[in-house]
Amino acid sequence: MRKQCPYPEKLCSKLEQCAYYQKVKPYCEKFKAYCDKVLALSNDNLEKTIAIAVALCLVCAVLVSLAAVALKPLQVSNKELDMKKNILDVAGLLQENSDIEKVFASQIEAKLVDLETGEYAEGNANEYDQRKAAKDPAQSVAIPKDKDIAHIRIKAKLAKVYLVKDGNTTKSIILPVSGYGLWSTLYGFLALEADGQTVQSINFYDQAETPGLGGEVVNPKWRALWKGKKVYAEVDQASLEKGLIEEADKGEPALALIKGTVDTSKAGSQYQVDGLAGASLTSTGVTNLVRYWMSKEGFSTYLSKVRTVAEKKS
Ligand SMILES: Cc1cc2nc3c(=O)[nH]c(=O)nc-3n(C[C@H](O)[C@H](O)[C@H](O)COP(=O)(O)O)c2cc1C
Repeated sequence: MRKQCPYPEKLCSKLEQCAYYQKVKPYCEKFKAYCDKVLALSNDNLEKTIAIAVALCLVCAVLVSLAAVALKPLQVSNKELDMKKNILDVAGLLQENSDIEKVFASQIEAKLVDLETGEYAEGNANEYDQRKAAKDPAQSVAIPKDKDIAHIRIKAKLAKVYLVKDGNTTKSIILPVSGYGLWSTLYGFLALEADGQTVQSINFYDQAETPGLGGEVVNPKWRALWKGKKVYAEVDQASLEKGLIEEADKGEPALALIKGTVDTSKAGSQYQVDGLAGASLTSTGVTNLVRYWMSKEGFSTYLSKVRTVAEKKS
């Protein structure tokens, strides 16, 4: 007598017609026989316990894999949205309940900059991933050890900058920055006014410094201290005479985090930001990454062109 089929009849007849199933059928039957044998064992049996555990692991692994694959597009779009949120935040355009996509599309323009020439480069800036490009030997360059003050070793040849637009006018420029702190590489954005010199804001969207110590880089109160600071040593005769700025420092990034609180009554305070309390090493890392990206290795050539255009306009 034929054993009763536990599966719906239609499915069984379809399976019987399938050439692939015919090939694997002997193995399926063996597997089913093994399952029946194991299930008939007592619950105290070691083989049954192991077999059930393995089966459970397999089912869970399949479910997790399916979830990971199915949720990938959602993850990608959430990541993009989060990045846009960070950019609007550093641009000072993030407001509660604002439509991020809409504000971003209407006020932010992504551009590619060739770091060597300081010129805008061709290409789809919206599709470009600078962090990915830095890992691709064809799109990146190794940083000479003596110049790698941010300890990042490699940089993408093209950087993705964001221009904050008000009609045809550029209100500010958002530059990607990165560098090593104490425990992690910090990734963030530095927003400069259209003069390519005055800081509007800074934020770090990816870092793993200690919360409460180096992690204070994300504290809005500390971030607010950056507003209005100057990046480059200005050609200021009084400062030159007082020895605050040396002739050789002209055009070099002067901005730095200092130990303690900045005395705003003192000359040169426009180039200083309070260091993070109890986190000298992260503070040094932040100074180094800002100085690296504002130097000729980073955006200095581009920004000097921006300044020339801004001066001509004013
Ligand atoms: C558990 C732990 C976590 C720390 N995390 C940081 C950190 O994220 N950034 C940092 O600069 N220093 C951190 N430090 C402190 C450094 O080891 C070092 O003492 C500090 O940077 C010196 O800063 P100060 O000269 O301002 O006191 C941490 C120390 C400990 C014990």
